[in-house]
Amino acid sequence: MKKHAKSLALASIGLSVLVFAQCREDAPTIPSQSFGTPYTLEVPAGFPPANIQPGNPLTEEGIKLGRFLFYEKALSGDGTQSCGSCHIQERAFTDATATSVGINGTFGTRKAMPLFNLAFHDNFFWDGRSLTLEEQALVPIEDPIEMDNDLATAVARLQANPMYPPMFKAAFGSSTITAENLGKAIAQFERTLISANSKFDSVIRLQTGATFTELEQRGYELFTSDFDPNGGFGGDCFHCHGERETAYLFGAFGRDLQFINNGLKAVYSDEGRARITGKVEDIGKFKVPSVRNVEFGFPFMHDGSIPNLDSLIGFYNFGGHLHPNIDPNMKAAGIGRNWNAGQKQALAAFLRTLSDYKFLEDTAFSDPHN
Ligand code: HEC
Ligand code: HEC
Repeated sequence: MKKHAKSLALASIGLSVLVFAQCREDAPTIPSQSFGTPYTLEVPAGFPPANIQPGNPLTEEGIKLGRFLFYEKALSGDGTQSCGSCHIQERAFTDATATSVGINGTFGTRKAMPLFNLAFHDNFFWDGRSLTLEEQALVPIEDPIEMDNDLATAVARLQANPMYPPMFKAAFGSSTITAENLGKAIAQFERTLISANSKFDSVIRLQTGATFTELEQRGYELFTSDFDPNGGFGGDCFHCHGERETAYLFGAFGRDLQFINNGLKAVYSDEGRARITGKVEDIGKFKVPSVRNVEFGFPFMHDGSIPNLDSLIGFYNFGGHLHPNIDPNMKAAGIGRNWNAGQKQALAAFLRTLSDYKFLEDTAFSDPHN
């Protein structure tokens, strides 16, 4: 039996070598993406098409490799940190500290961002400086206050680990590891991190039995209504947080919502988007974060300066600082919303319906090294 299987395997290797040689002659440039088992990303109903890079289609092998790499501590200079050290699954892949601590105990200046539904984003980081996940994945490895390694060392370590060369071969057709394929594999894994199974989703999709409580319903109304100083206490949240991946939920708003100043500060020590564009009008503008899984994503904002859900609601009730670049949709800035305790409670209750426990506990996304 064993022998038979072996000769069968040998025969099929022979066959694939033949086919391969044949292909080579006919089409000398075999794209690396022809390796691996194609994987179709399930895009939830109402979501936009996934943003998959043409040179990096998803495969079972690539996703699996990406997951191992996401949790691989050997990628950091001293071997103590992986991506998963700052992006913790049960915290919606953000960090529990306001600003993340890198391998040397040095504090960064920004809060780690939650990671989910990234397949629907077209820029990354608080200031949007990376345009693809492939490119983004290599940045923290080399960042001196994050993983503080150089890519050549990271690649050499993986190459020397007997586990990785065959995994790279299965995913990309070559057991010679490159930084490019490292970035591609991590990006593939990240694209599978889809969160679309909160109570909110089931209510919006009219799933049988799914309804908001009265309190949640009132919070939903606050989230989706405008502030009017003459007695309308709306939160204006939907103007900015009807983000790309949930646009169908709150309506499509036809604005470029990429980078916004929400009046978090009167003076910004981190200038945000202006660091990239050099424009004064971009000071204090940051990528609008998702409100999904907000119950677990604290502390909040680019600098982690808002510690919890109560203080978040307190900030939006205060209305924001009158910064010259503050967005016109921060309509209560300088006036305040005057929410009473019941309204604050209702908004909090609604925000908790955005928790996707299935995502937070999904073992397909957990550390595979354990
Ligand atoms: C020391 C903590 C730390 C480590 C380790 C780390 N990150 Fe991050 N991550 C951050 C911080 C902080 C930000 C925001 C940085 C910024 O905006 O400048 C971020 C942002 C991101 C984003 C952008 C998300 C978005 O919505 O735009 C992605 C994707 C990401 N990290 C993936 C990774 C991957 C992949 C690794 C491993 C190769 C990794 N991170 C390692 C702290 C970390
Ligand atoms: C004018 C646009 C705008 C409005 C209106 C707005 N936000 Fe925001 N929100 C932002 C921006 C921009 C950030 C990031 C700012 C930063 O980090 O400096 C943010 C950050 C957040 C965060 C932090 C998420 C994280 O991962 O750190 C939460 C939660 C949030 N907003 C919820 C709300 C709620 C609830 C409302 C309504 C009461 C609201 N927002 C209204 C633009 C807006």
